Amino acid sequence: MNILVLHGPNLNLLGLREPEVYGKETLEDINNMLRALARDNGVELRIVQSNHEGALIDALHEARTWAHGVLINPGAFTHYSYALRDAIAAIEKPCLEVHLSNVHKREEFRHKSVLAAVCVGQIVGLGWRSYTLGLTGLIQILQSSALPV
Ligand code: DQA
Repeated sequence: MNILVLHGPNLNLLGLREPEVYGKETLEDINNMLRALARDNGVELRIVQSNHEGALIDALHEARTWAHGVLINPGAFTHYSYALRDAIAAIEKPCLEVHLSNVHKREEFRHKSVLAAVCVGQIVGLGWRSYTLGLTGLIQILQSSALPV
């Protein structure tokens, strides 16, 4: 089973960036947790971080012929990128949206995800655990191929 992990803008600064909101773990710490989880489950991961919308879209397009599913933290693109939403819809792969912070407790503009409707689900507010639980859930969904509506 192959899974693409996509990290959006500013997530390369995790650990340094507002640690009271996003935690003290770096992106590499989180990637290592995901790699360990993937190894334990016999899953191959491709991990991409970009600050550029087009690069994230390109990675999604490439995933079309390789990945069985996608774990994505789209960063601020969550709230306004129709292009990313269209790319997720276009590739027709189960995509799970994760956020470190509880976006619903924060500024109003973060309450809306324009991607949620094309994702299988969303995990928010659990810090790095949003990623590990997200990957576990995605693997289970892909294994059972029983997708919730
Ligand atoms: C985030 C939440 C977004 O609103 C924000 O723009 C981010 C990180 C999170 O993981 O909590 O960059 O996606």
